[in-house]
Amino acid sequence: MKWIAHRGYSEKAPENTFAAFRRAIDSGASGIEFDVHVSKDGELFVMHDEHVGRTTDGEGRIRDMSDPELATLDAGAWFSEQYRGEPVPTLEEVLDFVPPNMLLNIEIKNIPHVYPEIEKKVNQALVHRDREENTIVSSFDHACLYRLKEWNPAVNIGLLMNFRAVNLESYLRLFAPFDVHSLHPHVAVVQKNEVERWQKQGMRVFPYAVKNKTDAKEMETLGVSGVISDLPPGDL
Ligand code: G3P
Ligand code: CA
Repeated sequence: MKWIAHRGYSEKAPENTFAAFRRAIDSGASGIEFDVHVSKDGELFVMHDEHVGRTTDGEGRIRDMSDPELATLDAGAWFSEQYRGEPVPTLEEVLDFVPPNMLLNIEIKNIPHVYPEIEKKVNQALVHRDREENTIVSSFDHACLYRLKEWNPAVNIGLLMNFRAVNLESYLRLFAPFDVHSLHPHVAVVQKNEVERWQKQGMRVFPYAVKNKTDAKEMETLGVSGVISDLPPGDL
């Protein structure tokens, strides 16, 4: 089972920062999940929220802020004094930071009407850094993932799902002629027979977000391909 560090190992270090990614690398994680938004200048920045207020010392929305404004934010002090000075990473910086043998899971937040062509920018960054392999781009906005496949069929897409699909086979036909690399359901909506069925159809299953031992054990029993977790396996 693969262990994908959710926003980096976000229980251990400030989420979506180099510190949390370093923690994941040092803990032997198989991969790292993180979220991207677009600045006023069109750059992709790594943060979970659309607003910078919760996880930095700034205020406002990423889309209203310039690259220099975002670059001066402190993304670590809110978590602990030890992390004061952690910057908000850009996508390209993260692509350089994480070793190529680690799986990357880039989540495009589901507000594409706010970020026109965000999927095109993500694709450009992956091509620029030669990082299409060993990367999954996921989103709750499945139409955005379809458009990404139109830009570049070689990019792996993962469908985030917080619902139990009634007829997934029929739904997935909407993605033709493209393939769906993986499904990323919430832990609460995963069922054993579905995991097997989806895997038989060639898809991986990566449930999110495992926060405790019970979830981790249950997912392992269900035979999932991996879990997206806030904590390293040794702590669960
Ligand atoms: O990878 C899935 C998970 O990250 C989605 O939820 O809110 O943590 O981005 P959220
Ligand atoms: Ca996410």
